[in-house]
Amino acid sequence: MGGAADRWAQRQAARGIPERILRDAPADPWTHDAADFTPADVPADTPSRHAARALAERAAAWSCAGASVLDVGCGGGDAVFAAAWPDPSPVARVVGVDRQADMLAVFAAAARARDLPYATVQGSWPQAAGEAGRHDVVLCHHVLHNVVDLPPFLDALTAAARPAGGVVVEMLPEHPLAWLDPLWARFHDLHRPASATADDVVAVLGEELGIVPEVRTWERARRLPHDAAWVARRLCLPEDRAGEVAAALGDVTARTTTAVTLVWTGRT
Ligand SMILES: C[S@@+](CC[C@H](N)C(=O)[O-])C[C@H]1O[C@@H](n2cnc3c(N)ncnc32)[C@H](O)[C@@H]1O
Repeated sequence: MGGAADRWAQRQAARGIPERILRDAPADPWTHDAADFTPADVPADTPSRHAARALAERAAAWSCAGASVLDVGCGGGDAVFAAAWPDPSPVARVVGVDRQADMLAVFAAAARARDLPYATVQGSWPQAAGEAGRHDVVLCHHVLHNVVDLPPFLDALTAAARPAGGVVVEMLPEHPLAWLDPLWARFHDLHRPASATADDVVAVLGEELGIVPEVRTWERARRLPHDAAWVARRLCLPEDRAGEVAAALGDVTARTTTAVTLVWTGRT
């Protein structure tokens, strides 16, 4: 592994929660609630949606058969259903990969509601790549900060995309929970090092795969609820400490609304 991949892995590994804290956590601090990931009927108009739509249109024109789009770490499919909207759509088939079965149930319901042919693969990327197959467009939104070993993850995204299409990654410039670092120090005396960044991903792509992605940095609307009970769970604290958390949140800068879109072409 090169310098950027090592830096990413070290920064990500340092985001782990120590056993002494995890032991007393009343609920799993990592698992996402699938109900928060139902895709909007009318998606946000973002650079990621534009990039995915343009790649799907190009692939559909090339094949004359409509584009097949894979969504890795799909959640409810926000990324892929945004690319498929509005009709007439170049997207003919969608496939969602996620390790959470409840997310795939939301994805499947959304595909049925939109009358889009679909498949789901429950598993962890890149291990699930073989079952997921190759597609015209590969999307991966807000997943990279769950990954420690980045090169095989990015390599599998690239290999899954046909050359007429490409890959669209969306992420925050730093770890989505980095804004809670001051509260880890306050409630657990845990002092976290700097977060892995989107710039690190660009460096890993260049050093490990020889890929120079197109990079777009933009502002998005806030998505997840950040009330005190939600934050208390992330901090491994019981719900009855939500009042203390609410007070502490007053001293914390809210999570950034800056987002980054990375786009590159698939492999021949
Ligand atoms: C923050 S959510 C983002 C969901 C969706 N892409 C979106 O933008 O709304 C991250 C999702 O990625 C899934 N996930 C994380 N790491 C994964 C991996 N290595 N393989 C497959 N799914 C993964 C999680 O289960 C979760 O559903």
